[in-house]
Amino acid sequence: MKKLRVAVIGIGFWGRNHARVFKELEETELLAVCDINAERAQNVAKQFGVKAYTNSGKMLRRKDIDAVSICTWSLKLADEALKALKTGKHVLVEKPMAVSVKQAGKLVETAQQKKLHLTVGFLMRFIPGIQHMKKAIENRIIGNLVCATAKRVSEWPERIGDIGVVKDTAIHDIDVVRYLFDEEPIAVYAKTGSMKYKKFEDYAQIMLTFNGGRSAFIESNWLTPYKTRTLIITGSKAIMKLDYISQELTIEDAKETMQPRYPWQEPLKLELQHFANCILRKEKPLINGIDGLKTLQIAEAALKSSETGKVIRIT
Ligand SMILES: NC(=O)c1ccc[n+]([C@@H]2O[C@H](COP(=O)([O-])OP(=O)(O)OC[C@H]3O[C@@H](n4cnc5c(N)ncnc54)[C@H](O)[C@@H]3O)[C@@H](O)[C@H]2O)c1
Repeated sequence: MKKLRVAVIGIGFWGRNHARVFKELEETELLAVCDINAERAQNVAKQFGVKAYTNSGKMLRRKDIDAVSICTWSLKLADEALKALKTGKHVLVEKPMAVSVKQAGKLVETAQQKKLHLTVGFLMRFIPGIQHMKKAIENRIIGNLVCATAKRVSEWPERIGDIGVVKDTAIHDIDVVRYLFDEEPIAVYAKTGSMKYKKFEDYAQIMLTFNGGRSAFIESNWLTPYKTRTLIITGSKAIMKLDYISQELTIEDAKETMQPRYPWQEPLKLELQHFANCILRKEKPLINGIDGLKTLQIAEAALKSSETGKVIRIT
């Protein structure tokens, strides 16, 4: 079987998981890892038996690398993704993809010009429960979708030092509701603030409104002493609840509560397998660069809404 030959740029907490999964998958062959921290690059490269680089430009000059995943600090994601696209590599860039819509637009444009696959690490779409919810909405099992409520709260993960909770954390839920509602919100209203983490906002309440009076409410913070990641979708006939951590899904209507059983699956494995198959077997991408750009646009609208105290219309 033809394998996708891959490398990872940025091998801290999350990039190391990318490297491990690429090593485990049948569809991929991990060739190299790169990190500006030389000791880290050496250690991870040794662990996986691949070559270490501290200079991504040098690594990207290798002709045998087909694709890369970018897992650097959020502020550096777009620069590294652009470099990789310019050298002809397919790219999976971690969320939030870029720090501005303008930067994200440049990535989309470059991928289109070079006819390369560009995707964003919106991992939540690969949680099996989200796929069940999507099908339940499409098959009208819950009736008409009315609203969604997402909660993603925990203590501040100290390694995140370059962006706030909206672009780091709430962005997952913004992407999920765009996906489930299958349309873009028309307006955003948000309240964000900074309690403990002085450099950026560490809590956010975001309300998105969609056509036909439908809405989504997203709560994110780095203030809660325990980790909760849940999503509730309410339809005219039933509601569905997902715990992202246990992957437990519940469907409730007026008569009964059901819990569909399916095996727990590692979402990163599903995500990276799909990344490889989009390139090797032309599988239809679940997420493209435009999804990253539009999600970032909504995150920026939320920050602007909080700053101005106004509802921001999405155009
Ligand atoms: N999709 C998800 O669920 C998910 C989960 C965790 C993290 N992430 C994303 O992954 C990224 C990394 O997060 P993390 O928690 O691993 O952070 P981290 O700080 O643990 O690791 C980042 C690594 O990137 C390296 N680095 C920074 N700039 C670089 C550059 N220009 N070239 C090469 N290496 C560089 C750093 O030395 C560090 O080792 C972030 O963008 C984060 O948003 C996504």
